[in-house]
Amino acid sequence: MPKIPLPKIPDSVVPAPLRKPAKPGAGGVPTGQAPSDLKSSPPERQTHVQRLGDQAKEAPVDVLAWVDQRTGASGFLTGMLFRKVPKGTNWFYTLGSATLFAFIVQAVTGVFLAMFYTPSATQAYSSIAHINNDVPLGALVHGMHKWGASVMVILVFLHMGRTFFFGAYKYPRELNWVIGVVLLILTMTMAFTGYLLPFDQRSFWASIVGININGTGPVVGPYLSDFLRAGPELGATTLARFYSIHMLLVPGAIIALIGAHMYLVVKLGTTAPPWVRAEKPKVAAPVAQLDAGVEGNGAAPSNGAAPTS
Ligand code: HEM
Repeated sequence: MPKIPLPKIPDSVVPAPLRKPAKPGAGGVPTGQAPSDLKSSPPERQTHVQRLGDQAKEAPVDVLAWVDQRTGASGFLTGMLFRKVPKGTNWFYTLGSATLFAFIVQAVTGVFLAMFYTPSATQAYSSIAHINNDVPLGALVHGMHKWGASVMVILVFLHMGRTFFFGAYKYPRELNWVIGVVLLILTMTMAFTGYLLPFDQRSFWASIVGININGTGPVVGPYLSDFLRAGPELGATTLARFYSIHMLLVPGAIIALIGAHMYLVVKLGTTAPPWVRAEKPKVAAPVAQLDAGVEGNGAAPSNGAAPTS
């Protein structure tokens, strides 16, 4: 397979301390010898305004360099963005990033919905109607959040399927699998707690069914359904509890766990597809063998003769 060259990073986005010094003669750096016509037409002196303009142009790069010197962020970002991926990496490897994107869409649209939603048993339904009918782009943002929830659930299952069928749960990625399982449970919790929030007939009765199903679980089931119902009947306290779980508790836990998940993905790298065979390590052959036209690893010599072992 031909080697894909790394993209060249433009100098303007590389912080000043990390930039390679330009060679003499290139990019306006003097070569040591003054050009012969320098005396006849000396360079124009920069005005104060021009100097300020140049400084303003450099300002974003200087700020980046300032932050970078104090955080070492560019080393981390370079390692993350330019890391090697195994041979055979394909479109199925984008499902994790797609899930992440779906989560970001849910977080952003959720923030805007929370500005207009009222988590009260008497006003929840009318606040959703207000979002859909009166708030500019309200119906669009609400629709994105509602359909985005299903998209995220579908994507997280597809991503889990990919990691399972590619054997990515095996050593050394077991911990990332376990974190993934918790993320899956939290994603389902988001979908379940969000369903009650419009507080219409459908969400009310569907949540009763969901809470009762939780109650059938072994040992913790009854405690879990009592905790979710937050009272003898589904009502105002249930709505308040679901809302706080939906917009504070679980999103916080998901963000923290996605951070840990991503750290392990970058640290351990991704798994190669199971049908890609590992290459034999290249061992240096003794000089005597090389002289005789024999290469290491028992591979065919470069002159096309058959392997020796
Ligand atoms: C909010 C949910 C999740 C997000 C945002 C997420 C994100 C990601 C991303 C971006 C990657 C790297 C790219 C890739 O391989 O697709 C990844 C890898 C991985 N994920 Fe997830 N993930 C989530 C849930 C899960 C779940 C439910 C599981 C399994 C139960 C899981 C297990 C793994 C494993 C084992 C890897 C390493 C893959 C490899 O080495 O090839 N993740 N995840």
